[in-house]
Amino acid sequence: MTQLKKDIVVAIDFGTTFSGIAWAHTANPEAIHIIQRWPCNIAGDLGGQTADKTPSELAYNYDNRKVLPVWGAQIPKNMPRLQSFKLDLVPEGRKHRKATLLPDHHDPRRMNYPHRVTANRVLIDYLHALQEHIPKVLKDQFGTALDSMSFKYVIAVPAMWPEKAKSQTRTCAEKAGLGRASDIQIISEPEAAAVHVMTQSRSSALEVDDTIVVCDAGGGTVDCITFTILALQPVLRLKESAAGDGKLCGGIFLNNIFEHFLSERLGNCEGWDDDTLGAAMREFEMETKRSFSGDTKQDFSIPVPGLADNESLGIHRTSYKVTGQELMDTLLPVLAETLELVMRQIRLSKNSPKSVFLVGGFGQSPLLFEYLRRFIPSEISIIAPVNGWTALARGACVKALADMSNPAPQIQVESRVARKHYGIITAVPFKDGHDLQKM
Ligand SMILES: Nc1ncnc2c1ncn2[C@@H]1O[C@H](COP(=O)(O)OP(=O)(O)OP(=O)(O)O)[C@@H](O)[C@H]1O
Ligand SMILES: [Mg+2]
Repeated sequence: MTQLKKDIVVAIDFGTTFSGIAWAHTANPEAIHIIQRWPCNIAGDLGGQTADKTPSELAYNYDNRKVLPVWGAQIPKNMPRLQSFKLDLVPEGRKHRKATLLPDHHDPRRMNYPHRVTANRVLIDYLHALQEHIPKVLKDQFGTALDSMSFKYVIAVPAMWPEKAKSQTRTCAEKAGLGRASDIQIISEPEAAAVHVMTQSRSSALEVDDTIVVCDAGGGTVDCITFTILALQPVLRLKESAAGDGKLCGGIFLNNIFEHFLSERLGNCEGWDDDTLGAAMREFEMETKRSFSGDTKQDFSIPVPGLADNESLGIHRTSYKVTGQELMDTLLPVLAETLELVMRQIRLSKNSPKSVFLVGGFGQSPLLFEYLRRFIPSEISIIAPVNGWTALARGACVKALADMSNPAPQIQVESRVARKHYGIITAVPFKDGHDLQKM
C-alpha cells in the first residue's frame, strides 16, 4: 500500500487514568516532542504549569441547551466527571469494575454515564478534544505553516484488547476527526514501550542476543512483553521470546484498596464524608503512593478533615496515622499480581532475560521497584528508564516514524508469540499404517 507523505506524526497514549501525546516532524524524526501544556480551565487557557500527561476524564457542560465536553485538567475541581472509561471499552474491564476483591474506586467526583451516552461516545469526545488541542500547541512551533501540514495519528492500545476493541478504537478515532480509519495506526502498548526502551538504550548496555522484559505498569493495566534483540543496527530487529501477558492490576487498584482500608477503619466516625475521603485520597495519590518504598518502619499522616481526635484510632489534629506495615499489608495484593506477571515472563522466556524495564506511571513507584527486587533473581537487573511515564507515547511515535521510512521499516518485530490460540478439537477414525498410535 502506498502511503501518502505526512508531515507530522502524532502518537496518542490514551490511558485509563492519564493520556499523553508525543509528536515529531517527519523531516526531523529524531526529535520526539511531548505535549506538556494542557487547557487548565473551562475557557481553555493553557496554564503556566506543565505536565507530561493529562487526566483521562471528561465532563459535559450544559450551556443554553448546548452540550460542551470539557476534559482533562480543564474540568473544574468539584465538577462530576466520567473517569476510567477506557475500562468500559472491553468486557473484561467492565467485569473488573464490579469485582469484589478490588472494590471500585469511589471518587466522589465520579459520575455515571449520562442518558444515551456510551463509552464509545465518550472516547470520541475525548479524542476529539485531544485532536483540537494538538494544533494549539504546535502553532507555537510552526506558526501559519502548520495550516498546510498533514497529520498521521497512531494510537496505543493494550495488547490484551481483542481485535473488536481495536477496530472500534479506530472507528471512534475517525469520528473524532483523526482522519480515515484505515490511515490511523493502532500499536500495542507494551510494544510501544519496548521500542522506547530499545531506542533510548541503543548507546547503553543492551547488546545483540540480550533478552529483556518490558513491564508497562499503568493506571489500569500492567502489561508485560519479552524480546530478544536480533540486531541493533542499521535496523532494530526484535523477536518475541515469550507470549506477552497483561492484567488489570495497575496503580488505581492501590487507590481502590487503600480507600477500602480507610472506609473500614474510619467509615463509622462522626464527620466522615466524601470531603474527608477526598482529602485523604488526594494525599495518598500525590504523596504517600509516590514516596512509600516498602519501609515498614516509616509512618504516614493522612489528612482526615472533619474527624475529631481519637487516640485509640490514631487520629490527632485531623491527621490519621498509618504505619508502613499497615500500608504494606494493604497494598500487597496489587504488587503480588504484578510480580506474578513479571515472573511468568521470566519463566516462559525461551532465553534468560538480562533486565526488566519498568515503565508507565505505576512503573515509577519505588514500592513496586523494591518489591520486585526482593523476588526477582539478582542476576536480572531492574531498570526504571528515564522518561518512563511517557515511554509509551514516545515509543509509539518512534515506531510509526520507523514504519514510514524508506525503503524498509527501521524497526522490525519478528515472530510474535501468540497470546491466544484458536483451535478445533477433532476426532477422526484411526487408520492403520497412517496414524502412529491408537488412542
Ligand atoms: N511516582 C509514582 N509512584 C507511584 N505511582 C505513580 C507514580 N506516578 C504515577 N503513578 C500512578 O500511575 C498511574 C498512571 O500511570 P499511567 O499514566 O502509565 O497509566 P495509564 O496510561 O493511565 O493507564 P493504562 O496504561 O493502564 O491504561 C496512576 O495510578 C498514578 O497514580
Ligand atoms: Mg498506559
